[in-house]
Order: sequence, then C-alpha cells, then structure tokens
Amino acid sequence: MPVTTAVENLGSIFADPAAYADPIGWHAAAKQIRDQSPILKVALEGYEEFWAITKHADVMEIERNPEIFTNGAVPVLALLADVAGSEAPVKTLIQMDGAQHRSHRGIVNEWFKPRNVKAMQSRIDELATHYVDQMASLGGQCDFVNDVALHFPLKVILSILGLPEEDYARMLKLTQELFGAEDPDIARMGEDQSILNVLLDLVSYFTDLAAERRIHPTDDLSSVIANAQIDDQPLTDMDMLGHYVIIATAGHDTTSNAIAGGLVALLEYRDQLELLQAQPELIDRAADEFIRFVSPVKHFMRTCQAPFTLRDVTFQPGDSLYLSYASANRDDEVFPDPMRLDVLRENAASHLAFGFGQHFCLGAHLARMEIRALFRELLGRLDHIELVSEPTWIRSYFVQGPKSIPIRYQLH
Ligand code: HEM
Repeated sequence: MPVTTAVENLGSIFADPAAYADPIGWHAAAKQIRDQSPILKVALEGYEEFWAITKHADVMEIERNPEIFTNGAVPVLALLADVAGSEAPVKTLIQMDGAQHRSHRGIVNEWFKPRNVKAMQSRIDELATHYVDQMASLGGQCDFVNDVALHFPLKVILSILGLPEEDYARMLKLTQELFGAEDPDIARMGEDQSILNVLLDLVSYFTDLAAERRIHPTDDLSSVIANAQIDDQPLTDMDMLGHYVIIATAGHDTTSNAIAGGLVALLEYRDQLELLQAQPELIDRAADEFIRFVSPVKHFMRTCQAPFTLRDVTFQPGDSLYLSYASANRDDEVFPDPMRLDVLRENAASHLAFGFGQHFCLGAHLARMEIRALFRELLGRLDHIELVSEPTWIRSYFVQGPKSIPIRYQLH
C-alpha cells in the first residue's frame, strides 16, 4: 500500500516546471511510475485530472488512433484558469484534427521533405561553421546555450521563412517567452506578462509579413504560406498566422535544446565524446541518441472522444491524456540501459521525441541535419572541453533543456 501511495504522489512531476529542472530526479520518479503504474491518474490543484501515459508502446498506441484521441482544443497541459471558456487565439497544426489538419499540413509538407531539406545542407553546414568560429573567437570560455545553441537553429529556420536578419533577436525573445513562460528568468516580466500578449506580438509581426509577401511573393516559405489556398480559397489571416507561429516557434527552441542537452550528455559520458571524435561517421546516428536522451518536447496532450481500453484502464470521452515523450524515451522495454547515453545504440531512432503518426514532427529531417552539422563541426575542432560549473536547466513542462552550460574549451 505505501508503494502505491508514493507513486500516486509522484504525478506532480508532469506539471511542475521545477521538477523538469532536475533531470536526474525527474527520470528516477518517471521510472518508478513506468514500473508501478504506467498509466497514472494525476489529480493536481488547478489542473483538470489527466492520465499520464509513460510507456513507449502506450504513447504509440494512442497516437495511432487520432480519431479517438484528438489534439484540439487543448494539446498542451494548461491551468484550468487559462483554459476556461477561451479558444486558442491562434490555431496551429498542433491544435487541428482530421480533414482540417490534413489540408493545412499539406500546405507546408512539401517544404520539409528530405529532398528539399537536403538542398539546405550547404547553408546549414555554413552556419554551423560560423557558430563554431564564433565560439572560437570568444577566447576559450562561453555559455554554450546562450552563445551558440540558441542562435544556430533560429538562424536556420528564420532564413527558411525569409525573415530579415535584423528581426532575429526579436524572434528569439518572443519564442523563448512563449515556450519558457513558467521559468521566471525567461518569462516576460512586467504588466503584459500573459502568454496572450506574447502571441499578439507574434501575430502583429506576421500579419505585416504576409501582407508584404502577397504583394511581392518570393521563393521563401513565408510566401508559400501567404499565398496558399484550401478548396480554392485563400487562408484566413488567423490560419496563416498559425502556420508562421508554429514554424517560427517549434522550429528552433526544440533543436537548440537537443544540441545543448546533447553536449551536456557528452560531457557526462566522456567515453562517448571520445568515440565520436575518433569516429565522426558515428555522428549521424548519435543525433537520434541525443534527441532520445534529451527529449526536448516533454509532452503533448490528447482528449479522448470514445471509450478505449489500454492495459487495465478504460478511457472515457472527455478524458485528458498526457503523452510523456520524456518517459517513453527511457523505457527499458525498448531501450536497454536507457539512462545511459550510447551513441552506438542501434535503435536510437525508435525514440518518440518527434511524436508518431499524423502529427509526427514536420521538421524532423531538418532538426537531425542541424544537430549533425553542428556536432560534426564542433567535435572535429575540439581539443579540450570541460564544464566551468554545473549546467542549469529551464523550468518548463513543455519544451525544455539546459538554460546555461558554462564551458572552457580549446578549438583548432
Ligand atoms: C529536435 C528538435 C525537435 C523536436 C524534439 C520536435 C518535436 C515535435 C513533436 C513531439 C511534435 C508533435 C508530434 C506528435 O504530436 O505526434 C512536433 C510537431 C511539429 N514540429 Fe517539431 N520538433 C523538433 C524540431 C522541429 C523543427 C526544426 C521544425 C521546423 C519547422 C518543427 C516543426 C514542427 C511542426 C510544424 C509540427 C506540427 C506537426 C503537426 O501537428 O502535423 N519541429 N515536433
């Protein structure tokens, strides 16, 4: 009995931003939940009750049934107070289901196909070299998160969208405010601290951009979105904005966290760092192991639409499900010795960090390409690297990873 009670009490790890800022403690708790109560009912003050889905097979099973487990209207854990009576001001692919999702995904899908992404290889390699050069110019000491990891993926995604370079700093700030809203160091402070205001700022920026691209289309992704049609009708302003917002936001913080978290893991498992330096051809597979290990997107939610039984639980219409990608990716039924970073792991790419099924991450090829390019360049030039002090971690239960990684290094 005491063991069961303990597991029930552990459910707060899924909603407590601070719990994610202690990755070792979080994963120990998640393992206990997986082993003892893999579908855990979580009741916390301020939140609607939800089922935490912690096993790899179960997350896949739920994502395999998108008619029963829908994304709309609340795909991310939200305080009851924030959800009550309010429709999302901007609807992105993540909030859509069924035919609506299919037709909207069709607009941008082509851009992210491997063939197109491959065409970006040289630009991505160039940017990777630029950021490692910049690291070299910092004189052997830097904060890897704020000096490197945050900037490189942002630059990639904003060049795909065709945004001018002078707007990059502003976009970086707005995205961090949107995703790091529970972390007091990152969240917008002052009177307009609500997430709604961050969204409105993004909306006003992209409304202007779309108007410009409708008059003067170019070959960038912004022009594709601004001039897209569904059933021979142009997109509404709000639909269009949904596309810009998801691509501009999902496209870089996620990848930054994978790169930063990957470096922390290499500094902990130095044998793996040495292995990659000795055999750089292993970096391709290592990228997926970094993504598995870090799982930058901690969860998405689904809402049950019809009774469905999984293990010993029957979900009822209206039930909320919390898909814990971070837990599923440390499931020892799929990944032997899952707490260890193993760049030789044969099935690393079976991770669920990009989700699964209809909503599978649109940017997965691009993200892998960026991570490989950065580590190829960095590890190829690194003579020495060590931590100056322990990394700190973002407090968030959504997109999360290291907040700072103070390092000392020598590059050639
Ligand atoms: C390591 C980096 C990344 C991770 C871990 C990640 C993770 C995810 C996850 C978990 C989902 C939801 C999947 C599901 O519900 O099954 C998703 C969806 C999405 N991602 Fe990523 N992502 C990353 C990079 C990117 C990049 C570079 C882009 C570029 C634009 C991107 C764009 C999107 C979009 C548009 C969706 C919505 C797809 C849909 O709902 O149909 N992501 N991503």
